[in-house]
Amino acid sequence: MAKIQIPRGTQDIVPGTVELWHYIEAKARDLCRRYNYAEIRTPLFEHTELFVRGVGETTDVVQKEMYAVDWFGEEKPRRDGGGLALRPEGTAGVVRSYVENKLYGAPNQPVKQYYIGPMFRHERPQAGRYRQFTQFGVEAIGSSDPAIDAEVIAVAIRLYEELGLKGLSVELNSVGTLEDRARHRTHLLAFLENIRTELCPDCQSRMDRNPLRVLDCKVEKDRILTKDAPSILEYLSEESAAHFQAVQDYLSAIGIPFTVNPRMVRGLDYYTQTAFEIKMAEIGAVETLCGGGRYNGLVADLGGDDMPGIGFALSIERLLLALEKQGVELPIERGIDCYIVVQSEAAKGVAFRLLDQLRQGGVIAEMDYLNRKMKAQLKAADRNEARYTAIIGETELVNGTVVLKEMASGEQRELKAGELLQALKK
Ligand code: HAM
Repeated sequence: MAKIQIPRGTQDIVPGTVELWHYIEAKARDLCRRYNYAEIRTPLFEHTELFVRGVGETTDVVQKEMYAVDWFGEEKPRRDGGGLALRPEGTAGVVRSYVENKLYGAPNQPVKQYYIGPMFRHERPQAGRYRQFTQFGVEAIGSSDPAIDAEVIAVAIRLYEELGLKGLSVELNSVGTLEDRARHRTHLLAFLENIRTELCPDCQSRMDRNPLRVLDCKVEKDRILTKDAPSILEYLSEESAAHFQAVQDYLSAIGIPFTVNPRMVRGLDYYTQTAFEIKMAEIGAVETLCGGGRYNGLVADLGGDDMPGIGFALSIERLLLALEKQGVELPIERGIDCYIVVQSEAAKGVAFRLLDQLRQGGVIAEMDYLNRKMKAQLKAADRNEARYTAIIGETELVNGTVVLKEMASGEQRELKAGELLQALKK
């Protein structure tokens, strides 16, 4: 029969690689503990409406990339209306949960949460771009203090730094409040109308939906055409401008370098004021490692009180690519403590009990399950990168002992079987 292959844009994370994931996830959790963010786990699917309203009806993520289903073959259409969609990102679900659980009334404010989990986007797969990918993200809801903007950026940067990445850059912008944007929009549209027909087809439709996004177009000709377009930064209210300045001051205070990029506009609709991306020069086709920003209207848009929020998300896939590109080796512990080698079936009975004792005592231990000859068992011990082998031959079986061999030095000594656990724990 024909083999069934893995779906395009997905990957198996297999033993040998999964240890890297464990290491990164543990580092992210540890960091969140230090920055006082608590983990939240929301469903992998939500009502499609959540993303339409949360992420934005006209965004690529919702229009082109969402895995949405409307019908599960039930007898009658469901009463809850619309269908369900695999989550393309984490913020909307976290805010939905925040509203549903009335966390705006929680005694401990602001509410600081993080998540690590799979997201789904139907994109064209390429290096660093998958259809299922894993985001680590944080969301801080309930504070509009610019210091927390800097804190959120710091969580991401410190993660990369602690893992050993170098030369990352933070690009910072303020996309203003809705009012700021409305003022800017009039002037921007007036500018764009003059060059409309020269712009790429995508930008021509962006002009009608979200003209700010024209500034973020990657087409070289468009970038040149829009070089002198009015900048959003010139239209910030006094309050937004002060907020933006304060974010920069806080970042400087903790030694995080950044560049202001007034053309950087994020692809999701909920952003207000602070927006940022973390980039590394050249990671395959895609260079953005992390993106985030403020979303002061989102909680209210999803039916909650008017609470401000800010967060970021980064994918572990792109992080791994960056580590690989920079040749960073994570300190992964591999191998086992002890492989028990036996000469006979009778010794196997003893070995099996001993193995259980070792494991219960906290030792990483293994034995042969393929009835291999001693020589092949020793080879298996090597393949398992065993630090020790404990050999039970005929003599040892009779004497109730084992020969413990340190693989690196080749040194060996005989000891009572009952002493093996203690010897290995030292
Ligand atoms: P985003 O920019 O859409 O923002 O995605 C954030 C990060 O997810 C990207 O910088 C990238 O590392 C990763 N990513 C996105 N798509 C893919 C893909 N197809 N394959 C691999 N990695 C990918 C958000 O998702 C917002 N929810 C971030 C946020 C949180 N803003 C505020 N809070």
